[in-house]
Amino acid sequence: FHVTWDAQAAEKGGYEHFMIKEIHEQPKAIKDTMTSRIMSDSDEIVLDDIKLTKEDLDNINKVFIVACGTAYHAGMVGKYVIEKLARIPVEVDIASEFRYRNPIMDEKTLLIVVSQSGETADTLAALREAKKAGARVMAVTNVVGSSVAREADDVFYTWAGPEIAVASTKAYTTQLIAMYILALYLGRLNGKLSVEEFRTIRDEMLVLPEKVEKLIQNKEELQKFADKNHMHRDMFYIGRGLDGSVSLEGALKLKEISYIHAEAYPAGELKHGPIALIDQDIPVIALATQEELFEKMVSNIKEVVTRGAKVISFALEGNTDIEQVSDQVVYMPRTISILTPILSVIPLQLLSYYVAVIRGCDVDKPKNLAKSVTVE
Ligand code: G6P
Repeated sequence: FHVTWDAQAAEKGGYEHFMIKEIHEQPKAIKDTMTSRIMSDSDEIVLDDIKLTKEDLDNINKVFIVACGTAYHAGMVGKYVIEKLARIPVEVDIASEFRYRNPIMDEKTLLIVVSQSGETADTLAALREAKKAGARVMAVTNVVGSSVAREADDVFYTWAGPEIAVASTKAYTTQLIAMYILALYLGRLNGKLSVEEFRTIRDEMLVLPEKVEKLIQNKEELQKFADKNHMHRDMFYIGRGLDGSVSLEGALKLKEISYIHAEAYPAGELKHGPIALIDQDIPVIALATQEELFEKMVSNIKEVVTRGAKVISFALEGNTDIEQVSDQVVYMPRTISILTPILSVIPLQLLSYYVAVIRGCDVDKPKNLAKSVTVE
């Protein structure tokens, strides 16, 4: 009798890859990131490592969010929610570009860096540039004591736990939670967000872990899509508003791990060029979770269907009109519009994962990529 002990297999907790394990860890990671910060029975938002006062905030007239890769995509959602809830102008920048474009910063600037590892060279350089200019710096990071955490004035830790797979999943969803909590915090601090609005969003956030769990369990639809479409060379992702940002993240996941060329476009922009590429060989992944933009998305989907594209759509439960223009529809539990990114990214992560697995790719260690890029 012989027992082999595979440490890696043990770490993967019975899953075939770290990526799928980490996808499954998201309900807990999201919950941990909210716990003790927002609570159902309190109107307070408790952020231990954030020292920013009301006076500090009153002095700030501009926010930059700077990051790379997946963290940059979380920053795009951050811009939307901070502007919406706290009414402060926000710009989002790719860290490797930021310091070379001579950004306008001074003591009235708040720079938020988002970095899972807290060690990305370009992100750290942006932070240092901002400090030099006198700006206040806040870090959103998953690693306690990381370089960005040590050098920032304020820190928001995501509690995703260690993320091993190169393709980021639970770090992204917890970064989104960080963006929401920060937006709520800033909005309450400067008085732009009423306590009623705050409570509505808080209560919806607190039930997100169950909804994420439900989505992870519903994987058959994504496996079905992967079975049918894994041999394609190109895929398009389209969406409007926040769905546009999530589309970028979905396309990044697919190209990173499956090596399929994937592009994401704001759906209304398609007709200004990329629609020239659409034909029956390019599946289109359409996100239509933004209620106020739903009809517009249906029109955009029709435009690609006319060119022969096969469409898989992602919509909220009940919006069944979308079936008329789609080959396949994946429904998601309802929530308020600003929170849908946390839900819609889950099936996109799963879709990329199943496509990559069928293609026989090394899911956890894609070629040419590193988990943390500490050189410029
Ligand atoms: C690398 C990783 C990405 C990550 C990016 C930023 O490219 O492969 O998954 O999003 O770095 O990393 P950070 O640690 O700063 O979030």
